[in-house]
Amino acid sequence: MTQTGVDHVPNPNTRPEAGGFDSADWWRQAVVYQIYPRSFHDADGDGLGDLRGVTEKADYLKDLGIDAVWLSPFYPSQLADGGYDVDDYRDVDPRLGSLDDFDAMVHALHGRRIKVVVDIVPNHSSNLHRWFREAVAAGPGSLERDRYIFRDGRGESGELPPSDWQSVFGGPAWTRVTEPDGAPGQWYMHIFASEQPDWNWDNPDVHQEFLDTIRFWADRGVDGFRIDVAHALAKDLGEELVDSHALPNEFEEFGTHPFWDRDEVHDIYAEWRRAFNEYDPPRTAVAEAWVHPDRLARYASPDGLGQAFSFDLLEVPFTAENFRRAITKNLDEARRSGASSTWVLSNHDVVRHPTRYGLDLDTLLERLEERPLTPSGGTDLSVAAKQWLLLGSPEDLLDRDRGLRRARAAELLVLALPGSAYIYQGSELGLYEVVEIDDDQRQDPSFFRNPGKDQGRDGCRVPLPWERTAQDFGFGGPAHLPQPEWFAGHAADAELSDPGSTLNMYRSALAARREMQAAEELEWGPLNGGDVVHIVRPDGWESITNFGSDPLELPEGGVVVVSSQPLQSSLLPPETTVWLRHRTGGR
Ligand code: NOJ
Repeated sequence: MTQTGVDHVPNPNTRPEAGGFDSADWWRQAVVYQIYPRSFHDADGDGLGDLRGVTEKADYLKDLGIDAVWLSPFYPSQLADGGYDVDDYRDVDPRLGSLDDFDAMVHALHGRRIKVVVDIVPNHSSNLHRWFREAVAAGPGSLERDRYIFRDGRGESGELPPSDWQSVFGGPAWTRVTEPDGAPGQWYMHIFASEQPDWNWDNPDVHQEFLDTIRFWADRGVDGFRIDVAHALAKDLGEELVDSHALPNEFEEFGTHPFWDRDEVHDIYAEWRRAFNEYDPPRTAVAEAWVHPDRLARYASPDGLGQAFSFDLLEVPFTAENFRRAITKNLDEARRSGASSTWVLSNHDVVRHPTRYGLDLDTLLERLEERPLTPSGGTDLSVAAKQWLLLGSPEDLLDRDRGLRRARAAELLVLALPGSAYIYQGSELGLYEVVEIDDDQRQDPSFFRNPGKDQGRDGCRVPLPWERTAQDFGFGGPAHLPQPEWFAGHAADAELSDPGSTLNMYRSALAARREMQAAEELEWGPLNGGDVVHIVRPDGWESITNFGSDPLELPEGGVVVVSSQPLQSSLLPPETTVWLRHRTGGR
């Protein structure tokens, strides 16, 4: 037995087929790379990333070592919300390519044994969707209007919105239309921007539209779906709409809110599951559902979507205790739902994690009027980081080196965990949030609808730097959001030639991960506790993260596979993760 207590050492050089590309449960342990298509790579030079751009980078993705890509929406859209306002669910935005380009991309990725996941946006369409235009044209009480949520206004002539509900992006959740006869008319509901009218899921046409959409993409070879705001579809608005202060708290009074996390939403996913299971292998789905932890398992159930994002690691500050708690909780949830865990450090909606982790949180909290809290009462780092942007991104509160050091340690820890890991494009390059964006260059509706209260999400959506010295850092066209000069040091070509780069750390880690055995469980290692997170996988691989500020003596007997910083002989530096493997007998 080694010092770390690992006595079972399987052959580390085999990758079991279970969980591999050809198996039905490929998703359980998959590393999924999120592509935000407009900002990934621009093949036709028009300044917007496109599907051919993804195809051109297929080898990059393969060499990175991921198992799947998830593409944020690439459908026709006026981009009122970065593509999450869909005009047509079964086509490609002409600026991003064509269905033929889509097929070519799937072919290129599948040829490299990379699965393809696309985004489904079922809570709302865009106001340019054919059915919404028909609904407005057809007038009150029509079948067409019933596909969306229209209500008469309050006040003498309906001039007041049906309720005072606010949209997630700020401003009212209702917008008034002009009726076909030119008179001011009814109001439609939109939880998000006014260009995103909510579907009425009590209408059978809406059900059919989405079943058709799922089959359309599944028939084209799509392997899985990411479901946008999965907890909002089912609604029971009642006759009398209550004021927002009288709305139930969806995190405490379960299933009673008129639109968040109602129990009936699961009937929709049971219907979808039957459609997913028509395919061999069954198509997969992952829910974006911001619900109470006790309610998440239902979204992830095998009768429903099958998997749900856990967002804990977007919210919690970088401490051993926070990570230990999140790991325990998520593995418990996965056990309850029968799904596998999901680990997410960044996505297109939050401040990038090297910036979040570099913030001087104590001083920042002192400068904020209100302490941002998670539902469980801890500090919400993701909200705090947004507040930092609002303060004008003061550099004196950001230690970039520390942020990246911690980000690398966190990613390596996450990649050692059972379950699937989601990597947002640019994380592998160690990109920070871009703060150098003028107000007139911004695109995000949460910035425009919340003047002075939200800087928006553009800073994590800036086109990627591919080549250090090329025009637009090799993005391929004039970048639609400004790329800062410091991108040069993070360009993919620069990082590839630097053995200590973040990109090379990801590549080494993902290559090593392929040798791990699929696992759904872990054990805590003997060093676990205090500032150290020490996990032991069933195959004997270990991951040790030193969250503290003093170096840590590593146990003897392990072979270092990869580390997030260079080791100082047998010492694990502060804010560093190392993976260890044990030699098999006779080697
Ligand atoms: C969640 C998506 O991740 C976000 O980008 C979008 O703005 C909203 N849903 C609305 O679709």
